[in-house]
Amino acid sequence: MGTPAGPGTASTPSPADSDLVRAALGRPVDRTPVWFMRQAGRSLPEYRALRAGTAMLQACQDPDLVTEITLQPVRRHGVDAAILFSDIVLPLVVAGVDIEIKPGVGPVVAQPVRSVADVDALPDLEPEGLGFLTTAVGRLVAELGATPLIGFAGAPFTLATYLIEGGPSKEHARTKAFMYAEPEAWQRLLAKLAVSASVFLRAQVDAGASAVQLFDSWAGVLSAADYAARVLPHSRAAFDGLGDRAAGVRDVPRIHFGVGTGELLPLIGNAGADVVGVDWRVPLDEAVRRVGPGYSLQGNLDPAVLLAGRTTLDAEVRRVVEQGRAARGHVFNLGHGVLPDTDPGAITHVVELVHELSSRA
Ligand code: CP3
Repeated sequence: MGTPAGPGTASTPSPADSDLVRAALGRPVDRTPVWFMRQAGRSLPEYRALRAGTAMLQACQDPDLVTEITLQPVRRHGVDAAILFSDIVLPLVVAGVDIEIKPGVGPVVAQPVRSVADVDALPDLEPEGLGFLTTAVGRLVAELGATPLIGFAGAPFTLATYLIEGGPSKEHARTKAFMYAEPEAWQRLLAKLAVSASVFLRAQVDAGASAVQLFDSWAGVLSAADYAARVLPHSRAAFDGLGDRAAGVRDVPRIHFGVGTGELLPLIGNAGADVVGVDWRVPLDEAVRRVGPGYSLQGNLDPAVLLAGRTTLDAEVRRVVEQGRAARGHVFNLGHGVLPDTDPGAITHVVELVHELSSRA
C-alpha cells in the first residue's frame, strides 16, 4: 500500500490527484485508470475464505471485514480504485427493512412494497446507524494512501424494483405497474429512496471517499420518456443531496451507471454525473455521441470476454481502450459486474494491459 494520504501537493500523491479522479473530470492522466464493478468478492478465493460463515449483509456491517475485503482486489490486481464492500440494499437494511441476500439469487425482501400504505410505512435511514461505515471508510482511506476509494449507493429506481418485486426480476412488471397505477405514491417512494441514497453517500464522502457511483442497474427496462419523467429527477436528487458542489461541499466526482441504457444515454448525465457508465452494448465512441459533451465515460468490456481466452480478451481490451479515446476522459471498467467464474488472473492481466496500452510516460 502507498503512504497515507496527505494534502494534495505536487510532492504528496493524493487520491484527489489520482488518474481516476482526473479521468472522471476530463483532466490529463498518466494512464487510463481501471477498476471493476464487483471486483470485491465474486472471483477471489481470499474473499470466499474470509466470508465463510458470515451472511452477506452481516459482513457489510463489520468494519474489519469491509476493510479487508475492499483491499483484497487492490492488492491482488493493482486496480486504480477501491470500491467499498457493501451492497445497494444496505441503507434499507440499516433503516430496518427485512431483507436478506440469498447466495446466487440476490436481495429478497420479506414484505414487498405493494400498496400506498407500504410506501408510507417505509422507515427512514438515520445517519446515526452508519457508524460501522464511517469506521470502515476511515480505515480504508488511511490504508489506501493515494489510491481513491469509490463510495456508492443504489439509485432510487433500482432499489424500488427490489422493494416492489420482493426480489430479483427480469421484466420488472410489478414495478412498472405500480409506477403507472400509483404515480403519487411512486414519486413519494422514489423521493424517500433518494434521501436514503444521499445519506448513505454523504457518510462515505465525509469519511473520505474520493468519488461516488450511483448504481441504477435496472433503469434500462424503462422507455426514455418514463425514465425522464418518473425516475431521473430522483436520481438527480440523490446526487444533489451531497450538497452544494459549487461551494465545494463534498465536491467529488460522480459516476452514474446502468445496464441496457443505450436509449437513455442522452439523459443519464442530467442526473448530475461527471462520468456516465456504459454497458458493452454501445461502443464507447458511439456512447460519446449519445451522451454529449461534458462527460467522461466508464466501461465497457463485456464481462463474458474475461471467460473467453487471452486472444479474444486482448483484442477486446485494445478495442475498448481505443474507442475510449473518443471520450474527454475514460475510466476502464466492465460493462457490468465481474462474473462469479472469472479467473482472477484474467482480471490482473486486463489491468496490466490497459496500463501498458494507455501509458503516456
Ligand atoms: O463492486 C464491488 O465489488 C463492491 C461491492 C458491491 C456488492 N454489490 C457486493 C455484493 C456492489 C457495488 C454491489 C452493488 C449491487 N448490489 C448492485 C448494483 C451493481 C450491479 O451488479 O448491477 C445490485 C443490483 C446489487 C444487489 C445484489 N446483491 C445482487 C444482484 C447480488 C448478487 C447475488 C448473487 O449471488 O449472484 C448481491 C449480492 C452481492 N453483493 C455479493 C457481493 C460480493 C455476492 C454475495 C456473496 O458473496 O455471498
